[in-house]
Amino acid sequence: MSIQNKVVIVTGASSGIGEATASLLAARGARVMLAGRRADRLEQVASAIGGDVAWTVTDVRRHTDVRALVSGTVERFGRLDVLVANAGVATVAPLDDLTDEQIDDMVSVNLNGVLHGIAAALPVFRSQGSGHFVQTVSTSGLRIVAGQTVYAGVKNAVRTISEGLRQEVGPSIRVTAVSPGMVRTEFVGERPPASNPTALATWEQVQKVAIAPDAIARAIAFAIEQPKDVDVNEIVVRPTAQG
Ligand SMILES: NC(=O)c1ccc[n+]([C@@H]2O[C@H](COP(=O)([O-])OP(=O)(O)OC[C@H]3O[C@@H](n4cnc5c(N)ncnc54)[C@H](OP(=O)(O)O)[C@@H]3O)[C@@H](O)[C@H]2O)c1
Repeated sequence: MSIQNKVVIVTGASSGIGEATASLLAARGARVMLAGRRADRLEQVASAIGGDVAWTVTDVRRHTDVRALVSGTVERFGRLDVLVANAGVATVAPLDDLTDEQIDDMVSVNLNGVLHGIAAALPVFRSQGSGHFVQTVSTSGLRIVAGQTVYAGVKNAVRTISEGLRQEVGPSIRVTAVSPGMVRTEFVGERPPASNPTALATWEQVQKVAIAPDAIARAIAFAIEQPKDVDVNEIVVRPTAQG
């Protein structure tokens, strides 16, 4: 019933929800491997956390990177208890305006990235006889909003995969899908131009109502710290002010 000594990979740990999750889990005694593309940010986060923390530059769009992340973690810490597949990107715009690259990126990071993690970690979890997949989904998939169609669709694919995975893995492996609402991170980016009113409206709402990323970190910690026969499958954490 403890996070103490658990070995946890957090993807997207260079900022936002991933950074907050890595910090909270490390504070509760986890040994954490941080993953993301920005080495400078990973290094900063690792040194701010201190303790038994390491980092690996990883692009989750590449299955070779994700396999190396998982095998490197097992080499470094001797096992893997939890994979928090949190890396994500979004472009808010109607389908008319999305570029091929923006669509590919949302699919490759948010969906393929999660599948790469499952492919790499599942054999490790099987051989240990235990493990926990945590995937960051989104309330965008629960209340569908124009301008977030591809993002919501891809996040809902992850929600579906989480449930299928849960049924397939049997009693020794746990699966949790966490759906944050609006969270104050770098995710929404710079103020969009008035020429993209859909994105601008979302951005303005986020500035008004978003909550701190620690709220999501606490939800992830809650799922991890349950007894091993308790599987917290879905958690939704929204700002009270989110419509
Ligand atoms: N903020 C919100 O309102 C909100 C709401 C619902 C769901 N979410 C979800 O929460 C998750 C975390 O987002 P956040 O809000 O914390 O935003 P963020 O601060 O922008 O963090 C996104 C993280 O994903 C990483 N990332 C992006 N592309 C990657 C790639 N190809 N390979 C590896 N890592 C990659 C980034 O690191 P690098 O740039 O260093 O690679 C960064 O650490 C995402 O899955 C997002 O969809 C966020």
